[in-house]
Amino acid sequence: MALGAQSLAFEMEMNMAHIPVLTDALLEVLDVRPDSAVVDCTFGGGGHASAVAGLLGPSGRLLACDRDPVARSYFDELKRSLSTPAAFYQGDFADTLAEFVGAGEKVDRIYMDLGLSSMQIDTEERGFSYSYDAPLDMRMDPRMALTAADILNGWDQDRLSWLFREFGEERYASRIARNVVRRRAQAPYVRTSELVDTVKASLPAPARFGARNPARRVFQALRIAVNDELDSLKRALPDAAALLKPGGVLAVISFHSLEDRIVKEFFAAQAHPCTCPPDFPVCVCGKQPSMEIVTTKPITPDSHEIEANPRSSSAKLRAARRI
Ligand SMILES: C[S@@+](CC[C@H](N)C(=O)[O-])C[C@H]1O[C@@H](n2cnc3c(N)ncnc32)[C@H](O)[C@@H]1O
Repeated sequence: MALGAQSLAFEMEMNMAHIPVLTDALLEVLDVRPDSAVVDCTFGGGGHASAVAGLLGPSGRLLACDRDPVARSYFDELKRSLSTPAAFYQGDFADTLAEFVGAGEKVDRIYMDLGLSSMQIDTEERGFSYSYDAPLDMRMDPRMALTAADILNGWDQDRLSWLFREFGEERYASRIARNVVRRRAQAPYVRTSELVDTVKASLPAPARFGARNPARRVFQALRIAVNDELDSLKRALPDAAALLKPGGVLAVISFHSLEDRIVKEFFAAQAHPCTCPPDFPVCVCGKQPSMEIVTTKPITPDSHEIEANPRSSSAKLRAARRI
């Protein structure tokens, strides 16, 4: 892309700026000190990172990661205004955290703000949104091979049905999968509108005319599969915990129950690792807690935040501290 076109694209993305969610609560649980080394695993538009960086001094460090190359432009923009040393790593946070562990790195704070940024959702041609007619892409990192179209055109009916049910929590998963397989026998799926039409045609009338787009669960399922989101999270959490210094905090903001369950179960396993049968009077397995849970219940946005930013409505923040 020519430089002019590149800066125009950046300008356009700035106009659909991501509003960071639960920022005050995140800052409170992180309790960042000026000399903290902090990892932002999901830099996005840098909203959280800029709030965190405001608390860091010249002896602190900001290590930022995102799969999406577009996030680098936002990082470069933020870095220009910082006195704190900062570096950006493009890739899956599971791989980046594993590299940090391999390098013997130790940090004070790590946070993840999962899911998609508004720039990704609102950039039509990336195919994340059922609201635009665009190519069925949905890759956060365009270097990845698998697209949403590959899944729709390539997976067998049972696997599609499983995907829509498990990752989309879609009640009509098997009907939709059956209709996808029928429709693609005529012509392969190319565009998001073709998938929206199939979903709508697969649902009974009452489910078609709800307040929200009936294709949203199928889109969520595809996006999770394209980006292997749940496995990334499962791989990343143990490395995040291992990277923390004693007293260090890991905070995760999730947006659907599949992610939240993984975080909740991981924190619970770190805080209560004992595998002795409940009727044993004393612990004989010897497994010691490695983290304590900071948020006994997940923190959620209040009505003001949801009104100002409806995309925050499903957010849940959980945090745990390294012992
Ligand atoms: C909700 S946005 C983060 C917004 C950011 N906190 C802010 O305030 O602007 C989520 C970001 O995480 C990135 N992301 C999601 N899963 C990722 C993963 N496994 N590895 C790296 N980045 C990921 C997405 O590309 C997206 O930019």
